[in-house]
Amino acid sequence: MSAAESVIIALDVDAREKALEMVRKLSPGVSWFKVGMELFSAVGPEIVREIAATGAKVFVDLKFHDIPNTVAGAGAAITRLGAAMFNVHCSGGREMMRQTLERSREAALKDGLELPRIIGVTVLTSMSQEVLKGEIGVGRDMTEQVKALALLAREAGLDGVVASPREIEVIRAECGPDFLIVTPGVRPSWSARDDQHRVMTPAEAYRLGATHLVVGRPITGAPDPREAWNKIVAEMEEKA
Ligand code: C5P
Repeated sequence: MSAAESVIIALDVDAREKALEMVRKLSPGVSWFKVGMELFSAVGPEIVREIAATGAKVFVDLKFHDIPNTVAGAGAAITRLGAAMFNVHCSGGREMMRQTLERSREAALKDGLELPRIIGVTVLTSMSQEVLKGEIGVGRDMTEQVKALALLAREAGLDGVVASPREIEVIRAECGPDFLIVTPGVRPSWSARDDQHRVMTPAEAYRLGATHLVVGRPITGAPDPREAWNKIVAEMEEKA
């Protein structure tokens, strides 16, 4: 996959027009846009169809976590919207992931759509080792937990996981060369860190084996988003 095709732009806005304006500014060129909880909750599912209709791929980042039947139904609905990727929490368990894949596949076949890539969330990067053990009661160390959940996702038939830059290498070693690794929390050296800690540059994360990089404010908040996107892609190509 080329550097340009690996970058997913996070549309973290609360209005349809703001989202579509950013899509227009970055099209053609940008392959992927991410619709997260804020945009989806504010303007509704139709935004996914609207962005997909421009020819871009849409990653619906709603991190589903519920009983298998409910998540599978949500996955099928997201598939029918024409999403190219969506995610679920691995901690929902193997059966939840398996049923989601199955129902999404049926929905895609029935409507003649492509099956979206289904990605697992292992441990949220906002979670510390102390919270994982002390509050949630997970006995395993963070890295062991991330590895175990990534393997469970692979066994259940998912395409990959969301991972912080620091987890890329261990997941790549554990889950093989074809597993997708979608990495947020990246910052070019020339951009503000905002609220992201322990960042890595997109070029470094790409070189370590991330297949997709989620980038928001360094591009959407730049005075010229297209120029910022070009610069990031050029840096990734240089280091590849
Ligand atoms: O603007 P920024 O580049 O920080 O946006 C990153 C995007 O990735 C946001 O949509 C955020 O919700 C998401 N994300 C993240 N860190 C995670 C998981 C998701 O920043 N661990």
